[in-house]
Amino acid sequence: MNTGVLEAICRKRDGKALSPEQIAGFVRGVTDGSIPDYQLGAMLMAIYLKGMDQRETVDLTIEMARSGDMLNLDGVEGVKVDKHSTGGVGDTTTLILAPLAAACGAKVAKMSGRGLGHTGGTLDKLESIPGMSVSLSPEAFVRQVNRIGLAIVGQTGSLVPADKKLYALRDVTGTVGSLPLVVSSVLSKKIASGADVVVLDVKAGNGSVMPTLEGSMALARSMVEIGCRTGRRFCALVTDMDQPLGTHIGNALEVKEAISVLQGACEGPLKKVSLQLAARMLTGGGLARDVDDALVRLEAAIQNGASLQKLAEMIRCQGGDPRVTEDTDRLPGAKKILPFESPCAGYVASMDTMALGNGARLLGAGRIRQEDAIDPAVGLVMRVRLGDRVEKGQPLLDLHLGEHSDLAGCTRLLEGAFTITGEKPDPRPLIHSIVEGPKQ
Ligand code: URA
Ligand code: CA
Repeated sequence: MNTGVLEAICRKRDGKALSPEQIAGFVRGVTDGSIPDYQLGAMLMAIYLKGMDQRETVDLTIEMARSGDMLNLDGVEGVKVDKHSTGGVGDTTTLILAPLAAACGAKVAKMSGRGLGHTGGTLDKLESIPGMSVSLSPEAFVRQVNRIGLAIVGQTGSLVPADKKLYALRDVTGTVGSLPLVVSSVLSKKIASGADVVVLDVKAGNGSVMPTLEGSMALARSMVEIGCRTGRRFCALVTDMDQPLGTHIGNALEVKEAISVLQGACEGPLKKVSLQLAARMLTGGGLARDVDDALVRLEAAIQNGASLQKLAEMIRCQGGDPRVTEDTDRLPGAKKILPFESPCAGYVASMDTMALGNGARLLGAGRIRQEDAIDPAVGLVMRVRLGDRVEKGQPLLDLHLGEHSDLAGCTRLLEGAFTITGEKPDPRPLIHSIVEGPKQ
């Protein structure tokens, strides 16, 4: 038995700081499988309940980043930029900002994830495009980024194995929303995947991993501070997730919405947040004078078709059908569409965003168990936003159904997901805060 682990668990249980050696030993034991899951679970819960100080969080992050291979992007010429979201619903910013930033001269070498819990994942969305592959060898990945400035792929099996193990355990031990655990999970992957500039989208609201705005703010500050200490440029936007960001929730549905933004056919919060994030990728990479200059360039790259062209190029390079960017009817579509109606008249005062994400998951847009297959066509399309006036029987959203959709389960979730009141609620800001790193 590894007595060092038991000692470390007890120390953390009692609210004391772990030594660098204890943290290194813990991550080693996670990675080589020598610590059993029950001790890992106990340690995760102790960290969740007692927290970690800054020094411990940095040590944990660095040890996790080193737990497997580190991607070498030295072969990519130019400034490598990356982005990471803490996870949301109807939140397809990557598919918009990655081609946009690339069209404006950035090198976007993006490693994305799959859906997790109630949140969607970029890889699952991309795979709804016929033929599209998200697994490239590291060499092919670097070659594609050099050639067209853009690649979005899945994490290779050997990158940050400690996070793979811990994330799966956190998901089933009630320990996801812990500041040091989220910081180390996100940053270890960003450090191991080699970008020079990283823009973080930290979600706040009832569809995010952190339960309070204060928690999301603290998370953003901590990630930027620790990230910048690794010699990379980090900044974070704290953005609202008290309702889905876009109108479309589901894989092909979100690709369709992203394409419509890049076609210049869709304004709104999804475009706004995507542009704000992309602007920081450009300024961080020295590709624009300031945020206003960046926003002008980004808007131009939408209007002149360059960003849509860039998306088509990436899809072609990764084996997909680029014609989807001109004709989204080539994406998988639902067998059946049903409205979900408001039970009464009034104003939309709140939405349970997590329930909406889980509702889409029950229709087949996400997985309930790891091995589940996804139905790319299914999901939800929102017809209202917070503050909208609705009449009784007016559709709040549309359900896009597939053969294996759990309609009854989804409907049960949706029935509890909306609060309709007589009074118009105060509007919420879309961007709560911007956290910049120290000036260089
Ligand atoms: N995204 C991650 O990669 N890790 C977390 O812990 C939360 C969101
Ligand atoms: Ca009706």
